[in-house]
Amino acid sequence: MDSFIEEVLFTHEDIVKRCDELGKQISKDYGDEPIVLIGLLRGSVPFMVELMMHIKNDVQIDFMDVCSYHGTTSSGSVTILKDIKLDIKNRHVIIAEDIVDTGLTLKNVMDLLCERGAASIEIACLLNKPAARKYKCLEPKYVAFTVDPKFVVGFGLDYNQSYRNLDYVGVLKRSIYENK
Ligand code: XMP
Ligand code: MG
Repeated sequence: MDSFIEEVLFTHEDIVKRCDELGKQISKDYGDEPIVLIGLLRGSVPFMVELMMHIKNDVQIDFMDVCSYHGTTSSGSVTILKDIKLDIKNRHVIIAEDIVDTGLTLKNVMDLLCERGAASIEIACLLNKPAARKYKCLEPKYVAFTVDPKFVVGFGLDYNQSYRNLDYVGVLKRSIYENK
């Protein structure tokens, strides 16, 4: 195991298996309808790439960059750094997110996207931390794994921009981010 990791929660194999299951569920739920998959940069990228290859529908992708997280705690505001280019009016949208924690990011992103007249909006996430929820947001419909409120990294999730490239999800050792 990598020296900075306390515990591996989900292996690469576990993640691919869950993305396959979620992709099949999404394909069934949306029938013949095309889907716009919006990834929230940067953490959602590995999950979004894996998930979209298991969806049989016509999928168009776009990205949004919002900033609401610093170090290991969520700040109270969200800034839009990059907006989507696709017009989502009357289209079925699925937002891909790495982790839903306090719910702040999704609450704000949903408020913004709802005004643009999408036919429907759902959330797909790699990880859901329901015990950490502070803001009332649309609950994710497609969840790969539910986790306890511990700080996790890998498969897109970072600590100060590092560890995103791990092909698994693990709990970061406290010594890496405490007393720094
Ligand atoms: P909110 O609180 O807005 O948080 O739901 C969502 C964003 O916060 C980041 N986040 C984490 N990043 N390990 C990480 O690497 C974590 O345990 C963690 N919890 C929240 C993440 O960027 C997510 O998009
Ligand atoms: Mg994020």
